[in-house]
Amino acid sequence: MQLGVIFGSRTCEHEVSIISAVQLMRSADREKYDVIPIYISQKGEWFTGEALLDIKTYTPFDPYRKGILPVHLDLTAGSGALMHYAPAKGLFGGGKEEIVARLECVIPVMHGLHGEDGSLQGLLEMAGLPYASTGVTGSAIGMDKIAMKRFFRGMGFPILRDCAMTRSRFEKDADAAMDEVEKELPYPVFVKPACLGSSIGVSRADDRAGLREGLELAFSYDRRVLIEEGLDKPIEVNCSVLGFDGERKASVLEMPNSGAAFLDFSEKYLASSGGSKGMASLKRIMPAPIGEELTKTLQDLSIRIFDAMDCKGVVRIDYMLDRHSDAYYITEINTIPGSLAFYLWQETGLPYGRLIDEMVDCALRAYREKERNSFAFTSDILSGVQLGGAKGAKGGKLKF
Ligand SMILES: Nc1ncnc2c1ncn2[C@@H]1O[C@H](COP(=O)(O)OP(=O)(O)O)[C@@H](O)[C@H]1O
Ligand SMILES: [Mg+2]
Repeated sequence: MQLGVIFGSRTCEHEVSIISAVQLMRSADREKYDVIPIYISQKGEWFTGEALLDIKTYTPFDPYRKGILPVHLDLTAGSGALMHYAPAKGLFGGGKEEIVARLECVIPVMHGLHGEDGSLQGLLEMAGLPYASTGVTGSAIGMDKIAMKRFFRGMGFPILRDCAMTRSRFEKDADAAMDEVEKELPYPVFVKPACLGSSIGVSRADDRAGLREGLELAFSYDRRVLIEEGLDKPIEVNCSVLGFDGERKASVLEMPNSGAAFLDFSEKYLASSGGSKGMASLKRIMPAPIGEELTKTLQDLSIRIFDAMDCKGVVRIDYMLDRHSDAYYITEINTIPGSLAFYLWQETGLPYGRLIDEMVDCALRAYREKERNSFAFTSDILSGVQLGGAKGAKGGKLKF
């Protein structure tokens, strides 16, 4: 099977995505798959080539180096053709398009905007390709912390109180906007850009000055910001869910930040690893020592969330436990988690290679299910309609 792995893209989490993708590509079973790396640069250019399997290719990335080809995807439904435009060699004559691969399935390994947020998923739906991540709706809801929390609230899932603010509202009258926040929530609060991850732009505010600073920081990343009731040094635990459409299972739980009060970007990716292994090397305790009963409760809740959002493939749902009560809250869902949470599945007894097999299986199942839907509805409304040409369009013929 020609298995495309799409990663990188225009997102703050570009580098994290490269690490996750290289890990995945190196773990896929080569007997079963021709792994086709598809790297989207920070500028949004698409590339393929063997060299993309090597992490050193990215430090720094040189699009002209040997073994890298600029490509684009044929969006014709069902084609899956990955195309390379080869310019003409001589002075005369045009270049030509070559098909370098025929994708049969795609694993999106993107974190953040332009990949985890439903945009790439939409593109793959248009292109009629099976893909191993949550669909358009679930991805979009999962990416947008404001929409996500409204969805969870609607479902009756346990979340902390919050409010939302737009940049224009803040710029128009910052004091009035902060008054509104203070009326809703006591300090401390956490301020977060709506559509980011990896703790980028997230801060804790203990007073109004901190709130102002936090909002300014968060608004530098996003036009919309979530302000959330803060917990004091919460215990954090994460759970992965794998599957699709009723056939899904929860992983063991991890406790990712044994000790640290708040995991920022550098703690997540740099501190313990020298930056080389990403989420996989983070100091973590598995299984999280929170007792059998709470473990089971959170695993069940994770599955309910997975179902409610119609997730697909592998996701990770993060929780915070209040040290001062028995309460637990959903922090967020990551529809494409760092390192694809493979370390949680390994701990659960599923090696990375087999996790990839299961993800591909989910993609194909979803594709087959969609094929059962009918996309055509026969009627003859077109035949009776006479609309004529567009007014004033005389002579404005298109040139092909
Ligand atoms: N309401 C909160 N109370 C206490 N800590 C929080 C709260 N919200 C977030 N945090 C801390 O900030 C981290 C990042 O927040 P999160 O919402 O997961 O954003 P991201 O998508 O960037 O990972 C969490 O893992 C946790 O350590
Ligand atoms: Mg998080």
